[in-house]
Amino acid sequence: MLRRLHPEQPDSFAFTAANQQWAEAQITKYPEGRQASAVIPLLWRAQEQEGWLSRPAIESVADLLGMAYIRVLEVASFYFMFQLQPVGSVAHIQVCGTTSCMICGAEDLIAVCKEKIAAKPHELSADGKLSWEEVECLGSCTNAPMAQIGKDYYEDLTAESFGKIIDDLAAGRVPAPGPQNGRYAAEPLKGLTSLTDHEAGKPQYNASVELATGLGDTIKRIDGTEVPILTPWLGKDGKQAGASAAAKPPKAPEAPKPAVKQAAEAKAKADVKEDQPETLTEARDGKADDLKLLKGVGPKLEQTLNELGFYHFDQIAAWTPAHVAWVDARLKFKGRIERDGWIEQAGKLAAGEETEFAKRAKEDGTYKD
Ligand code: FES
Repeated sequence: MLRRLHPEQPDSFAFTAANQQWAEAQITKYPEGRQASAVIPLLWRAQEQEGWLSRPAIESVADLLGMAYIRVLEVASFYFMFQLQPVGSVAHIQVCGTTSCMICGAEDLIAVCKEKIAAKPHELSADGKLSWEEVECLGSCTNAPMAQIGKDYYEDLTAESFGKIIDDLAAGRVPAPGPQNGRYAAEPLKGLTSLTDHEAGKPQYNASVELATGLGDTIKRIDGTEVPILTPWLGKDGKQAGASAAAKPPKAPEAPKPAVKQAAEAKAKADVKEDQPETLTEARDGKADDLKLLKGVGPKLEQTLNELGFYHFDQIAAWTPAHVAWVDARLKFKGRIERDGWIEQAGKLAAGEETEFAKRAKEDGTYKD
């Protein structure tokens, strides 16, 4: 199947404030120079926000990670979990069409999708609420035929039960996921043949369905409000989670806690008044430096910097905190100048030295368009 960008694209994309904060926190998981490793989680969050991945969303993620657009498009177009076209506002239904499901009635389910949603996969229903597609084995073959809707599996489906699920979703109800034929989980269709003493007193649903119905968020998309700790690999106080008390180094009372320090730094930054650095109308001698050799600067950011009047490493190396505040206010994503250490990198490159990132970028050419 060809996976292409949708012919109709929005003009722009921006993470919500909560998602932006989450995305920036995710990036801190990875060591210096390896920020591209965050590409899948960031694309996934962009998709959760919008329902699908538009070209501006893909480019925004690329900018955030300092990657060439084509590299991020390669990821987005490779994995089928990424939707490259608008999906139903309520739910996108993925019907498994692989062997077990096909033998057990997947074609009947697809006929229901065609009748109730749209004639073709990836088309929106008339009211825009639903869309569908056929996918490969979802690993629930024992409960074939099945479909994934939102985060959950609906299993042991018939055309009738599946049609009712679709009607419920269109009407704003979220049906209980899991087996739809009375099975508890993936036990034999004719009932348990072993561990039969577990039959009595079992809860209404198996653990997965119990959790799904408890959370009630089968078709709710992640919006950035779910996880209060943005950096769960660090403790709430910013220290490495899981470190035993005995292993902790002795306390240094005079050192401010990271959270306090960060807050103080953020306040200090907020207090810095913007001051416009000296800019150029064009590159000196018509020969601009390749600003993409700065980690965190992709083709789009380079273009923005050029448009602001910055063409050379020495210009960036000379920025004061007030200059940084001025430039930062004019970039789409705030804080990256400092986060990626542009000034230090630019200073080295202006002096004819090499940085790790620039060396690697020149070697493998990944920073190129
Ligand atoms: S064949 Fe459908 S889940 Fe495996």
